[in-house]
Amino acid sequence: MTDLLSISDLERGDIERLLDLTDHFAEVSARPIPKVPALRGKTVVSLFYEDSTRTRLSFETAAKRLSADTMNFSVSTSSVKKGESLRDTAQTIEAMGIDCVVVRHKSSGVPWQLTRWVDAAVVNAGDGWHEHPTQALLDCYTIRQQRGSLDGMHIAIVGDVKHSRVARSDIWAFTKLGATVTVVAPPTLLPPAIGTYPVRVSHDIDSVLPTVDAVYLLRMQRERMTEALLPSLREYTATYGLTRERARLLQDDALVMHPGPINRGVEVDPDVADEVRSVIIDQVRNGVSVRMAVLFLLLGSGSELLPPEVAVPEAV
Ligand code: NCD
Repeated sequence: MTDLLSISDLERGDIERLLDLTDHFAEVSARPIPKVPALRGKTVVSLFYEDSTRTRLSFETAAKRLSADTMNFSVSTSSVKKGESLRDTAQTIEAMGIDCVVVRHKSSGVPWQLTRWVDAAVVNAGDGWHEHPTQALLDCYTIRQQRGSLDGMHIAIVGDVKHSRVARSDIWAFTKLGATVTVVAPPTLLPPAIGTYPVRVSHDIDSVLPTVDAVYLLRMQRERMTEALLPSLREYTATYGLTRERARLLQDDALVMHPGPINRGVEVDPDVADEVRSVIIDQVRNGVSVRMAVLFLLLGSGSELLPPEVAVPEAV
């Protein structure tokens, strides 16, 4: 593997080996000094053309824990504001000898385009509505940590599936690992091609909740909506939100998940987001370890998926 562009490109075995490798970096992250010299001398640049809090911080933390040098590129303070093209920006970065570009962009396909312009490894940190592979990997890791395996699980993905790259990557990842996925949304918030995805579709959250092992709530992505797809947010919450009353329909050990940022009170009740079944904070914590595994795989010794017994260097 030389780049990480999408989950749909990966085989089940690739995903499993990445999750196994993540165990090693979770162990590193739990040390008093959570830092190893694995990527000393390597440089990772974050090229974020869209806003981000956790994904950007998570990649940066991951790179630093591996002793890589990190650079941040912010569109609002760069020459993009002066009209510089993506290609020129990429070539400028390449000329500086960067080893890895972590890219987020509002257009689908940009990470693929970058691979044609730069020799550096490219990691997709979200391309438009298309994919967000490291989010799916950290989601799978979190479920595996709680349940041991995704095999045979039933997972509901609820909400704005249409605009969600997280939903697309999760659908591929969860089903490749053996789970059944039901998407629950009003028809206006489903992609027109939903029939081609390996999912069941429901418009009735109350009948689905009692049957699931995990419920994955999506943010209402209003910044991507160009037309009125909902009568009102209040109506959405009443019909599809994980309210306190609805949360009682869940099994006692069902997991409550969300990629963040949360619109508390819209897709999930504020108390439910913090309750004991919620693993939302675990998702964020695991995100760092998963991204360490991805960066190590792409930039560390050899570019093949490494066996689980790979030696992670001692703490510096
Ligand atoms: C998501 C994203 O940007 O795709 N957030 C994230 O990366 N954790 C989901 C969202 O913005 O709703």
